[in-house]
Amino acid sequence: MIIDTHTHLDDEAFDTDRDELIKSFEDAGISRVVNIGADLKTSRSSVALAEKYNNIFAVVGVHPSETNELDEKALIELESMASHDKVVAIGEIGLDYYWDNVDREKQKFWFIKQLKLAKKLKLPVVIHSRDAALDTFEILKQEINGLCGGVIHCYSYSPEMAKEFEKLGFFFGIGGVVTFKNSRKLKETVSYLPLEKIVLETDAPYLAPVPNRGKRNSPLNLSYVLDEIAAIKGLDKAYIIEQTQKNAHALYPKLK
Ligand code: NI
Repeated sequence: MIIDTHTHLDDEAFDTDRDELIKSFEDAGISRVVNIGADLKTSRSSVALAEKYNNIFAVVGVHPSETNELDEKALIELESMASHDKVVAIGEIGLDYYWDNVDREKQKFWFIKQLKLAKKLKLPVVIHSRDAALDTFEILKQEINGLCGGVIHCYSYSPEMAKEFEKLGFFFGIGGVVTFKNSRKLKETVSYLPLEKIVLETDAPYLAPVPNRGKRNSPLNLSYVLDEIAAIKGLDKAYIIEQTQKNAHALYPKLK
């Protein structure tokens, strides 16, 4: 069955029909959904969702653009949330030079702090990296010893850069963007990557695939992403579902 490795179902975009939506996943062939925190508040709500629904798991962490809220006390709270049975990774953490609303040195500082937390807790990491390929790569390379793997979420760099992240053992999160007409670089990356390194993700409510581009995204749209990956790689859709499910479990060992 399909696993959505990265979504934000606690977002207010789902306030009107969250319960109904989550209950519809099984009939749509979606077995597990991993809900990702982007700050302290959404990390808490991710854990709460995971406690409420069997098919939801959580990831806790603070996104680079939200790192102004971090201090030692916040880090202790993240550590305590991460000890929950259903918290499968630390994220989304990383560097964002596109919005660039937090000082870059500060982003790096908290990225490294949260990588060290993941190592201490023996959890994988979910990486957010935008317009910051080289700095992200250098920090991951420097911190790779003792790291329990992870995923480059919404991968947006070149196929050449993908080779470098692949050497560090990372998975690649592929979602709606791969269906966009102007995503030539990502299609090339997907063509290059071994299927064993790809996990499916939506980043819902954002980045809905064609033909629903611009609308609210949900895990139900993953079928379009699967069609596109199948077309690019010339592989059977059922085979991609089976292999990406294995990959998701390899990425997140706590996912049951
Ligand atoms: Ni996200």
